Amino acid sequence: MSSISLIRASSRVSALIPALGLLGALLMTGPAAAQTAWDHAKVVGPTECAECHKAENEVWKGTHHFSTFTQLPRKKSANEIAERMGLRRIKADSLCLDCHFTTVEQGGEREPIAGVSCESCHAPGRDWKKVHSTYSGKKKGQESAQEIAQRWAAAEKAGMIRPKNMYRWAKNCYSCHVVPQEKLVNVGKHEAGSDFELVAWSQGEIRHNLWYNDGKVNEPASQNTKRLMYVVGQAVELETALRAVGKATEKAAYAVTMAKRAQADRASVAKLAGLLRIPELQEISAAGNGAGLKLNNNGELSAAADKIAAATQRLVAKYDGSSFGAIDSVLPPESSYKGRPAR
Ligand code: HEC
Ligand code: HEC
Ligand code: HEC
Ligand code: HEC
Repeated sequence: MSSISLIRASSRVSALIPALGLLGALLMTGPAAAQTAWDHAKVVGPTECAECHKAENEVWKGTHHFSTFTQLPRKKSANEIAERMGLRRIKADSLCLDCHFTTVEQGGEREPIAGVSCESCHAPGRDWKKVHSTYSGKKKGQESAQEIAQRWAAAEKAGMIRPKNMYRWAKNCYSCHVVPQEKLVNVGKHEAGSDFELVAWSQGEIRHNLWYNDGKVNEPASQNTKRLMYVVGQAVELETALRAVGKATEKAAYAVTMAKRAQADRASVAKLAGLLRIPELQEISAAGNGAGLKLNNNGELSAAADKIAAATQRLVAKYDGSSFGAIDSVLPPESSYKGRPAR
């Protein structure tokens, strides 16, 4: 049995983890799972959201998520990726559509209508748009606490991803930003993800904490929320990276980059577990270290990722960040935020 390292043994964190090996035989995998599988037939489009959410819509228009719609197809680099992937048009194939665009669906045909938009993050709205916004048929402020709770429960049941469900929306960011698609990376030469981190990337140009401030103040996330975001982000990134390694079939750019990412995430989660000493993080760290970063190991890696997912969801439900002061020194500084928040 030959074992080929995905990561050099001299790598600084390698002592912390089991040796990275790569078994010779190719893995049997299905098609690379795309970004969260939406039902595109349920997309209503950002114009409908903007009918009520004008301020959020204005913020969104200042982001790369908005501009990718018109910019991407014009880029030489994008067309080269498409060409290597054997695609005729960027906007005609579901591969690029899944991560760069919002599409509506008619008669089985997907038509791009925007870049990464409201429903790319809050989920397609057709089934929950009405229920989330109608105050249980009463006037604003007239619902009982029970009616409010029922309304949100109904909206979530109909698919809505609420800001409160940090695990869910974080997972969604990473499912695009890690770029867990082997062929796209190895053959298309698409970037194998970026240095995405939840606090820095959500608190810059993306930030639209406006609705509950009457659309007037774009409030930064509170210190407690940032702490929780940082921890959840590192855990979700580890989960995503393990799943990504699990899908790798050959030792090339994709497998190596994803393994390195997972290894860095292990170190980062271990550090947080040491600082916070909460059982959920110990569990996430142990699960993350329990599966070897090698080819042909999808079963173990997926099982580890499932454990991390379960523990992270419990963590989000249990803590609000107020007891996480010990990690303040590792939170990304404002100067590292991606883009400027809108006023
Ligand atoms: C008819 C007006 C209306 C439309 C259209 C609308 N919303 Fe809302 N939205 C509301 C109202 C009202 C609330 C706040 C309800 C409350 O205060 O309890 C809200 C709240 C939200 C929230 C915050 C939820 C939370 O957990 O606090 C999100 C996110 C959201 N809307 C997203 C969207 C998206 C995405 C669309 C388009 C698919 C959309 N909305 C369309 C009226 C609307
Ligand atoms: C799994 C999701 C995913 C898929 C599929 C995907 N991309 Fe991307 N792409 C991204 C993300 C995320 C970024 C931004 C990287 C970052 O900053 O995190 C990006 C960035 C890019 C960039 C560089 C940024 C720019 O605008 O110059 C190009 C070019 C690009 N993608 C082209 C494509 C093309 C062409 C396809 C289809 C063949 C495609 N992508 C499919 C997620 C994806
Ligand atoms: C890149 C993903 C993303 C996109 C695109 C996006 N949102 Fe959000 N939205 C979020 C996240 C994440 C939060 C919660 C942020 C937080 O808690 O700090 C949020 C929060 C909200 C809120 C609650 C804000 C508050 O005051 O608490 C509303 C309303 C909302 N979004 C509506 C929209 C609408 C309408 C659009 C499209 C014009 C949109 N969002 C586009 C991810 C996104
Ligand atoms: C559907 C896939 C998708 C989702 C979900 C998504 N993004 Fe993105 N994001 C992209 C793509 C694609 C780009 C690159 C756009 C371009 O420049 O062409 C991007 C770009 C960005 C940028 C700009 C980066 C730069 O180069 O300055 C930020 C910041 C960002 N995303 C943050 C987030 C956050 C935070 C979330 C989750 C709340 C999120 N994204 C969810 C696909 C996604």
